[in-house]
Amino acid sequence: MGTVPSSLPLSESGLKLSGPKPSVAIIGAGAIGLSIAWRLAQAGCRVDVFDRGEAGRGATHAAGGMLAACVETEPGEDALLPLTRASQALWPDFARAVEEASGLPVDLRTEGTMIVALNADDAARLRFLHDFQSGLGLPVEWLTGGAVRKREPYLQPGVAGALFCPEDHQVDNRKLALALRAAVMRAGGRIHERTEVSGIETRGGRATGVRVGEELVQADQVVLAAGAWSGRIDGLPAAARPPVRPIKGQMLCVRMDPALPLLRHTVWTQTGTYLIPRLDGRLLVGATTEERGFDDRMTAGGLFALLEGAWRALPGIAELPVEETWVGFRPGSRDDAPILGSCAVEGLVLATGHHRNGILLTPVTADGIARLILTGETDPAIAPFGLDRFAPKKTALGALA
Ligand code: GLY
Repeated sequence: MGTVPSSLPLSESGLKLSGPKPSVAIIGAGAIGLSIAWRLAQAGCRVDVFDRGEAGRGATHAAGGMLAACVETEPGEDALLPLTRASQALWPDFARAVEEASGLPVDLRTEGTMIVALNADDAARLRFLHDFQSGLGLPVEWLTGGAVRKREPYLQPGVAGALFCPEDHQVDNRKLALALRAAVMRAGGRIHERTEVSGIETRGGRATGVRVGEELVQADQVVLAAGAWSGRIDGLPAAARPPVRPIKGQMLCVRMDPALPLLRHTVWTQTGTYLIPRLDGRLLVGATTEERGFDDRMTAGGLFALLEGAWRALPGIAELPVEETWVGFRPGSRDDAPILGSCAVEGLVLATGHHRNGILLTPVTADGIARLILTGETDPAIAPFGLDRFAPKKTALGALA
């Protein structure tokens, strides 16, 4: 595994946070924007958060809340691992702190996650992933079919084994959004819902605030955390525009008896379907991954794929009532990693492009971005994820590659 850079919670990092604090306008009240707002408001900044809809009702509402640094690491995707593991390590304290600050639960569940092999072919493929992930130093364990059935007796009886990731937990992302919203307000931050920012104001190459209708809201620093909409904001030169696009995901939820849940761990199948049991009896099934722009329609094919994948692993799901279906838009960047930090416009900070990992990466993003704004220092954890990694490189002959 790559070295996990030091990423201390801001409150414990020993930074000198005295002196005048910048005023900050944050575009986007999802988990990322709200958590940055909370950290900055706690540190004494004047913070205004703007959202075109209601706080936490975009990708944060649509997500599954998996904190899955291990499960989601496949060959070729290990560059993100130091960041995802650093954030995963921050989650227990982060969850506690948000609950304390808001007085609201976020339902962090720590049973861990299994990727199940439903037959011998699945098991052979999963062994390969086990070797790969163990080679990276990730905490993963092989479970025999019998051991899996003991832990999850309602899985398909022929289950041949599982890769168990004991540190891949889950949080109720919808509760998290409510808690973060409350924490921001309790810390003195202002949240402007149904208030669309039409553009970022700049003067002399520096961000001076945001435009809301006819009004200019001045700020020393502007944070762009608008998820899949981040690339559409007006007023930015091309060099500062994050290359973010929507990656559609369809999901559904069935209702279990909370006293007799069909599942306790988060479970992934080899076809990429995942099942996430909540404490209140909801069982989430996700998710498709589609390049369809902002098309927010559920499709028959999407529903079929989710239900079939879930039913193959957990046949009893066929009896459960469907409670909800929904579509969300992951903010995908060109390399599927987030875009974090300063950019060509002075005073503009980017916190977007979190793709499949927005909830997982919330604590490390909040601490890294708040630290940058308060001290000018770039946390080593977020340093590799600047927008400049996409800048055209000059070749030896001077041409742009
Ligand atoms: N992290 C799960 C998803 O994006 O579907």
